[in-house]
Amino acid sequence: MIRTALTELTGARYPVVQTGMGYVAGARLAAATSKAGGLGIVAASTMSVEQMRGAIREVKERTDAPFGVNIRSDAADAADRVDIMIKEGVRVASFALAPDRELIARLKDAGVVTIPSVGARRHAEKVASWGADAVVVQGGEGGGHTGPVPTTLLLPDVVAAVDIPVIAAGGFFDGRGLVAALAYGAAGIAMGTRFLLTSDSPVAEEVKRVYLGKSVRDTVVTTKVDGVPHRVLSSELVSSLESAGRLRGLLRASRNGARFKRLSGLSWGEMIREGRRMRRARELTWAQVLMAANTPMLLKAAMVDGRTDLGVMASGQVVGLLDDLPSCEELITRIMRDAAATLDTLAALHDD
Ligand SMILES: Cc1cc2nc3c(=O)[nH]c(=O)nc-3n(C[C@H](O)[C@H](O)[C@H](O)COP(=O)(O)O)c2cc1C
Repeated sequence: MIRTALTELTGARYPVVQTGMGYVAGARLAAATSKAGGLGIVAASTMSVEQMRGAIREVKERTDAPFGVNIRSDAADAADRVDIMIKEGVRVASFALAPDRELIARLKDAGVVTIPSVGARRHAEKVASWGADAVVVQGGEGGGHTGPVPTTLLLPDVVAAVDIPVIAAGGFFDGRGLVAALAYGAAGIAMGTRFLLTSDSPVAEEVKRVYLGKSVRDTVVTTKVDGVPHRVLSSELVSSLESAGRLRGLLRASRNGARFKRLSGLSWGEMIREGRRMRRARELTWAQVLMAANTPMLLKAAMVDGRTDLGVMASGQVVGLLDDLPSCEELITRIMRDAAATLDTLAALHDD
């Protein structure tokens, strides 16, 4: 057993978090993680409110273990989603992109543990001052939206800067990584790409095979998907997004915006209100707001529809070190076993 501030705070058996990943971390993956003793997080930012409620109930049917839900705090219906999380007894709230002070306060008042994710020290300091219970710190090697500072530098920097538990993300996949994170002063690790590549992940087999074939050099950080830095697998589509002119990029984004509107059932009025909130919360330009709908649509094309040619595949650099598809149970057991062995090896070094 390795008990840390993370296991104390969340009630999870092990200090291992499966992060929210749009179209990947549904009820099945989150429940399998939590059942295996980790903390599973349902990625609800790409779900409608009803889908989110359904996913929460499904996790509860599959396991009694604690789990979390990842929402976007700048979504027009964020307050309704928070109500549902509180009513359904969700243990942990996580946020895709920037969190919101009032939402953190409401969740905390209701006893929900709030754990925003950040990619920069000043954001960690900000959410700590807002009363967040813990923070996931993602280094630049991590998948999806990511910053420029690698985990080995960002993690100790943030640990020194805040008094709340820090969970390390970006590049983790095994027991040695867990011990290294603990050595830096983290309370646990959070992983996206590693959990995407499990047998419990709903991603199509052919898409998983594409990931498994990649090396550590096969990811790229692009701002051409949604205007902010996003680590994805290199592909022809990403190269064409990179080389397309601004106008073509905006045209593609507005087509995806219209598709996203249909899929999410939002009215144009709601979409525009949401755009205004995003602009304010994330300090985006209108062009970036327009592009934001690209992420869910392009992620869905690859993750749900299996169209690796038409979609983007968010991924951490760690993809290059992964060559199997264990179940969440096998993965978490292996991580905890290897972490214990690593701790023994280190203790023996010290004795000598
Ligand atoms: C396919 C994919 C989708 C993601 N979607 C989201 C998301 O919807 N919300 C979020 O907060 N983070 C998202 N992320 C980021 C992950 O939650 C996590 O922070 C990151 O994968 C950690 O780095 P790693 O991939 O090296 O483990 C996504 C990452 C991937 C790989």
